[in-house]
Amino acid sequence: MEKKIKIGIIGSGGIAQAHARAYMRMDDVEIVAVADVIPGKAAEFVNRLGITGAKAFDSHLELLELDVDGVSVCTPNVAHHRTSVDALQAGKHVLVEKPLAVTLEQGVEMVEVGKKAGRILSVGFQPRYDPNMQTVKNIVQSGELGNVYYVQTGGGRRRGMPGGTFINKELAGAGAMADIGCYSLDLALNALGYPKPLSVSAYTSNHFGTNPHYHAEASKFEVEDFGVALVRLEGGKVLNFKISWAMHMDSLGPTLFLGTDAGLKLTPAGSGPWSGVWDGGIGSITLFHDIQGHHTESPISVQQHNVDIFYEKVRAFVVAVKEGTEAPIPGEEILINQAIIDGILRSSEIGKEVDIHIPKIGG
Ligand SMILES: NC(=O)c1ccc[n+]([C@@H]2O[C@H](COP(=O)([O-])OP(=O)(O)OC[C@H]3O[C@@H](n4cnc5c(N)ncnc54)[C@H](O)[C@@H]3O)[C@@H](O)[C@H]2O)c1
Repeated sequence: MEKKIKIGIIGSGGIAQAHARAYMRMDDVEIVAVADVIPGKAAEFVNRLGITGAKAFDSHLELLELDVDGVSVCTPNVAHHRTSVDALQAGKHVLVEKPLAVTLEQGVEMVEVGKKAGRILSVGFQPRYDPNMQTVKNIVQSGELGNVYYVQTGGGRRRGMPGGTFINKELAGAGAMADIGCYSLDLALNALGYPKPLSVSAYTSNHFGTNPHYHAEASKFEVEDFGVALVRLEGGKVLNFKISWAMHMDSLGPTLFLGTDAGLKLTPAGSGPWSGVWDGGIGSITLFHDIQGHHTESPISVQQHNVDIFYEKVRAFVVAVKEGTEAPIPGEEILINQAIIDGILRSSEIGKEVDIHIPKIGG
């Protein structure tokens, strides 16, 4: 009989359920243990989901003593670093939830430890498995747009502010940017082939999160609920990135790729207060040309797909573990994403453009 891939889940809250349910659909995977710092929570999770034979622990360190091939890290952002580093050092492959970490330094250490240990560190961006996101990347990479010099992207929630760990600076790192902005950044940067960011000038604010009229935990609200940044990228490109958890507006506009030969416009799927987030829902894709003065617009068909993107992201991790291949969404690539968010926070604090430095891994 084929050897099963042994999996552990660290953190047994909301998103851990999506990981567990995906693993439970795979015949070649066995969830051997779940760990959560809240005493009894992992055991309750194992029972509730009916994960037959899985052990439950109150510390990830006990889980890591087991014979486990890989772990899903589903803790709040603040614990991504400690649990991932411990797992990698214990020789386990890691699928860590987004965002990679709370600080750039933590992200760098996670990537370094993974490299040293020769283990996979993959980041859980499920929109990558949306076929429409692949279509966008294929168009940009095909060269059809010519030299893409300007990209504008970002999600705009009209009213969608979480609470708890998501609004605490030390636990989350950042607010709307870390929570949903990382998806928009990945959409744009992945299509461009992850160019190196050079500098950023940014503004962030939290007019709504800190106002008791708009947020039940206003006195504890420490992060940004809105941000805008101009990011200079290598190759003479510029990225205009905008994000909001709350605003008196329905949208922050479409995602645009402006190239020397053509332009591409994407609108998000759905409407309503929580719409506009690039969480895999692309509503329309339109190509714009101006051939000898004749403006042409061609809609590219958006696939109404049945792909379960949460399942696919977990499956891609399992396949990489099984086949000994590279991380499907490498931590090293997503460090760029983290470095941009780090730059945005620094720039917004001092009100000036700042350089973005990504330390050399292993250097
Ligand atoms: N990919 C997605 O669509 C998606 C959606 C929601 C959340 N997330 C990400 O998933 C992560 C978790 O979010 P959530 O909404 O599930 O949070 P949650 O608060 O519901 O669950 C987190 C769990 O981790 C536990 N925990 C905290 N520190 C721990 C540690 N050191 N070891 C073990 N367990 C620990 C907590 O007790 C809690 O049970 C966040 O990083 C978030 O950004 C991703």
